[in-house]
Amino acid sequence: MRLRTPFPPWTSRGVVSALTLAAVVILNGAVTACGGSTEATGSPGIPPEAMADAIHHVLESDRTVYARHVVNRLQDEEGVIAASEQWEDDRALPLPAQMFRMSAQLTAEKTDRVSYALLSPWPINSRNAPRTEAEEAGLESVAADPSKPFYGTETLGDTEYFTAVYADIAVSPACVTCHNAHADSPRDDFELGDTMGGVVVRIALD
Ligand code: HEC
Repeated sequence: MRLRTPFPPWTSRGVVSALTLAAVVILNGAVTACGGSTEATGSPGIPPEAMADAIHHVLESDRTVYARHVVNRLQDEEGVIAASEQWEDDRALPLPAQMFRMSAQLTAEKTDRVSYALLSPWPINSRNAPRTEAEEAGLESVAADPSKPFYGTETLGDTEYFTAVYADIAVSPACVTCHNAHADSPRDDFELGDTMGGVVVRIALD
């Protein structure tokens, strides 16, 4: 039996039909390409992991610079001014963790798309305790393996968030001494190199 196309290519209807087919194929390709490029430029573009990592780098750098070049220098090296938890009453410098919390609060007033916090399962300030399942799981995960950030998603209210947690390590003896001696600290057995908590970075996904 001979297979017959409805419109053989050599007839005018066949040519039109072949052209239409080619056009559809090209158009499809264009739509796919278009779809691809729209995805690259229209949606966030940067994977949330990379975005959270970048935000964390900035936060860490700011905290380190403040601790090293403001607190350590002015308090410990030059004896100009002390850092104190009661910095307003004592007319002193805020502690690095307090600076961090104040900047996080200011950011929260400006946007609900990105937020961050320095939290711990053993917080001096109860406002720094984990509140969501992802925060709890993240802090647990970085305490078990500080070298690996925790990445997860969570839905809070109507919004889906990407939540990353990075280990916060006792990098200097001062971290350990102050936290272990603090009256509000639930732990007095931190050691140098321990994970004392974590930096949580949260990004809205929609
Ligand atoms: C002079 C005392 C002092 C030193 C030194 C210090 N901290 Fe803290 N840290 C505090 C206080 C007070 C808070 C609570 C701040 C607040 O009100 O949010 C805090 C908060 C934190 C938190 C959030 C959870 C909590 O306990 O409330 C982490 C995590 C943390 N510090 C880790 C560190 C690390 C790591 C270092 C060293 C690089 C360090 N701290 C050095 C006093 C100190």
